[in-house]
Amino acid sequence: MKNVMILTGAGQIGMAIVRRMGYGMKIIIGDKKLENAQSISKILNDAGFDTFPLEMDLSSRTSIKNMISEAQKYGEIKMLINAAGVSPSQALIETILKVDLYGTAVLLEEVGKVISEGGVGVTISSQSGKRMPQLTAEEDAMLACTPTDELLSLDILKPENIRDTLHAYQMAKRCNEKRVMAESVKWGKRGARLNSISPGIIVTPLAIDEFNGPRGDFYKNMFAKCPAGRPGTADEVANVAELLMSDKGAFITGTDFMCDGGATASYFYGPLKPKK
Ligand SMILES: NC(=O)c1ccc[n+]([C@@H]2O[C@H](COP(=O)([O-])OP(=O)(O)OC[C@H]3O[C@@H](n4cnc5c(N)ncnc54)[C@H](O)[C@@H]3O)[C@@H](O)[C@H]2O)c1
Repeated sequence: MKNVMILTGAGQIGMAIVRRMGYGMKIIIGDKKLENAQSISKILNDAGFDTFPLEMDLSSRTSIKNMISEAQKYGEIKMLINAAGVSPSQALIETILKVDLYGTAVLLEEVGKVISEGGVGVTISSQSGKRMPQLTAEEDAMLACTPTDELLSLDILKPENIRDTLHAYQMAKRCNEKRVMAESVKWGKRGARLNSISPGIIVTPLAIDEFNGPRGDFYKNMFAKCPAGRPGTADEVANVAELLMSDKGAFITGTDFMCDGGATASYFYGPLKPKK
């Protein structure tokens, strides 16, 4: 038997984190597009990792539980990397809420029931969730603690209260952060840790879809005017994940780390501040 890692979302960010943390482990790679899981699985196996690709849908509890059962055939689940998601230019409001918000909440809950002692998880949120007005303390608490199957019935997430796909994405990412706080308390009872990372613009197929989508100029302006003056790379997100998932992060749990080249700082106090 081996220690097992689960990766959901066979994209560039997920693969970069696996390369830092997945050596010596059995790595289950789940993606809605089996071909994505297979192609990353091949790259990793060719580099000495031991992976198994499978089709899974983050928006389905059944699919998540099937993936967990498959993973447990190889040993105890020691690490979770959730890098599955859809962006505002890729999907409809309902899909974004179902995958990025609800699916992430279910995954953290289900893996939290089986994560082994000393286990760690990271989920990829986004700085997008911070580029909107604060929610009330009550709204934050509802996002954090509402039972997963009731989440999408909350008034603040009803379709009439969501302006567009960007708003849906922002709410989903805000929810990720709150969910990680609440779930980390449960993970802690098992001796495990859980955190999220909020990247800025990271060049991946998802970001390239955004550059070519209706908000392309907005995104290009965003990285041009952030303190770093460029988009980031998946490996820079993996640097943060390595801190959070290794023993160096032993005292870090239930929190969110931004890795956005300063875009959020510039949004509040610099040239990216929206004009009134
Ligand atoms: N790239 C960026 O600029 C950026 C910035 C902030 C946050 N993020 C977040 O990072 C995460 C990973 O994004 P990426 O840029 O590596 O994208 P990517 O497109 O390279 O990978 C995302 C993967 O998720 C898979 N996926 C989509 N829906 C799914 C579902 N229902 N079930 C299972 N898999 C599904 C896709 O098939 C794809 O393989 C996402 O949550 C995204 O919101 C990305």
